[in-house]
Amino acid sequence: MNNRTFTMIKPDATSKGHTGAILKMINAAGFRIAAMKMTKLSAEKAGQFYAIHKGKPFYDELVTFMSSGPITAAILEKGNAVEDFRKLIGSTDPEKADEGTIRKLFASSIGENAIHGSDSDENAMIEGDFFFSKLEQF
Ligand code: GTP
Ligand code: MG
Repeated sequence: MNNRTFTMIKPDATSKGHTGAILKMINAAGFRIAAMKMTKLSAEKAGQFYAIHKGKPFYDELVTFMSSGPITAAILEKGNAVEDFRKLIGSTDPEKADEGTIRKLFASSIGENAIHGSDSDENAMIEGDFFFSKLEQF
């Protein structure tokens, strides 16, 4: 299955009021919302979600940031979802992101970069299941 990805609108974009504009771009790019919720990660949950980065110099900062305020989590459906969504959000560092991408438009730094997108089909499944029960995935 390569038609689903997982995203979070991160605390920076949420607190700046960009959630609606970002969801509009996601829909306009042809993604269907298969699950969605607004929630807030505890530091423990944020640490689990980004466990792959444990030990990296930015890990503590990442966990603090991701648990600093509410986020919107969603599962998105479209052909070639993972790759196409990474193109829509742009490079991790907004200074390197292409014009018109979500991070170019809404991210302020490599740390506070507005949005998450899964990096593989396998992680998309794991990450979607981290936030949503099967009954919440449509
Ligand atoms: P995600 O979609 O959030 O997974 O971002 P990514 O796949 O583009 O980047 P990666 O998985 O390598 O890093 C995960 C997150 O850690 C990034 O989105 C940033 O929020 C943060 N991060 C990565 N590199 C740095 C860094 O050098 N400094 C800081 N402060 N944060 C970083
Ligand atoms: Mg990543």
